[in-house]
Amino acid sequence: MRTLITNGTIVNADGSTTADVLIDGETIAVIGADLARAGLTADETIDATGRYVIPGAIDVHTHMELPFGGTFAKDTFETGTRAAAFGGTTTIVDFAVQGKGQSLRQGLDAWHAKAEGNAVADYGFHMIMSDVNDATLAEMDGLVAEGVPDFKLFTAYPGVFYSDDGAIFRAMQRTTRNGGLIMIHAENGMAIDVVAEQTVAAGTTDPIGHGLARKAVFEGEATSRVIRLAEAAGSPVYIVHLSAREALDEVRAARDRGTKAFAETCPQYLFLSLDDLGNGFEGAKYVCSPPLRTKDNWDELWAGLIRDDLQLVATDHCPFDFEGQKDLGRGDFRKVPNGLPGVEDRVDLLHDGGVVAGRITRERWVEIISSAPARLFGMAPHKGSVAVGADADLVIYDPNRRRTISAAAHHMDVDYSCYEGREVQGASDVVFSRGSVIVRDGAFTGRKGHGRFLKRAPADYARMA
Ligand code: URP
Ligand code: ZN
Ligand code: ZN
Repeated sequence: MRTLITNGTIVNADGSTTADVLIDGETIAVIGADLARAGLTADETIDATGRYVIPGAIDVHTHMELPFGGTFAKDTFETGTRAAAFGGTTTIVDFAVQGKGQSLRQGLDAWHAKAEGNAVADYGFHMIMSDVNDATLAEMDGLVAEGVPDFKLFTAYPGVFYSDDGAIFRAMQRTTRNGGLIMIHAENGMAIDVVAEQTVAAGTTDPIGHGLARKAVFEGEATSRVIRLAEAAGSPVYIVHLSAREALDEVRAARDRGTKAFAETCPQYLFLSLDDLGNGFEGAKYVCSPPLRTKDNWDELWAGLIRDDLQLVATDHCPFDFEGQKDLGRGDFRKVPNGLPGVEDRVDLLHDGGVVAGRITRERWVEIISSAPARLFGMAPHKGSVAVGADADLVIYDPNRRRTISAAAHHMDVDYSCYEGREVQGASDVVFSRGSVIVRDGAFTGRKGHGRFLKRAPADYARMA
């Protein structure tokens, strides 16, 4: 199958140009002016005049079917990748989980079983390590070789995913030898548990207590600590879902002194705030960790994205229904499952709040949603750019179309939207995954099982600023 996309504005991280794109099979075969006149033929031609042609977006932080708080994140690999595709995201990297007492292999096999034959677009895995010991440290090398080169450890959630400093340091040391990357959920979980207990004892049991107990200073402290551990180990480190100025200051200071510290933020920290947690139990819809912060953090995070102290935006997509899941925490905010839906809305929220609002260029937008994730997580040059030879993961994007975000219209398998009623400018019209159209004008045209596991190479962090 050959598809010719004519007259679109190709937007890559390093510049934009108006040209045609010829897709042959699964890859981009030719980019140039007036390809039909040059004699190139195709089975289908799509006129993209007035629209962008961008690389399929890549979300490197999702949790399909994550077990959490006595329940499971609702989206499966089928529903989650399908929803992602509607929003222009053609690749996800999900977190496989090593449960306590399990091997990494058991956790990884379980995630392969969830995804294989179900995903509608390509996917990779990071590995959550809940149990760092001699055996699991040794297993890390094998996972790197198998294309799962990143490991998430937590200074949060004592008794669940928590690792102490020694465990984190040992894992970091291991990556200096095997080339992998340690990703950290950086909040001081021990201190948070103390304050959370005091908050409940003082009578605050509604979700606002979640935001009050998980103080920004606890995120700043943990971020500083793990960066120092990485410096001592001589390893790079990646901070996931960074939410607050206190943590960003630590990443910026580390980068200024030459440390290979990288970080992502998420749309919820750019567009939502502590106020959303405050509406009685409705606030449970906004319970995630780190929690939503005060609005004065928004400009700080945008500045971090502009200056590249934050390299990318991922979603931390982890959806729980309000009815039947979030309400496990009625009467005690500590029991609300942590996580928000978002995989479908990231591209448009960032276009609207970033490009349309004049905060970032359209090229930086493409960089933070696609090119930087591809580069940092070993998917370039196949993913993350519109280039000859790359996978034809492409989006024909209308930068002027407006839509209103709503649970009634979204495709994520969850009964509410954090952005209900918000109008955004910019929307994905046609979405290609390796040359196949999987979404066209609001209809799903893809296939369950089309998505393939991506064996990712460790990135060359030493060469990354
Ligand atoms: O609240 C969140 N972030 N839930 C998902 C698990 C995690 O910590 O990333
Ligand atoms: Zn986390
Ligand atoms: Zn997460």
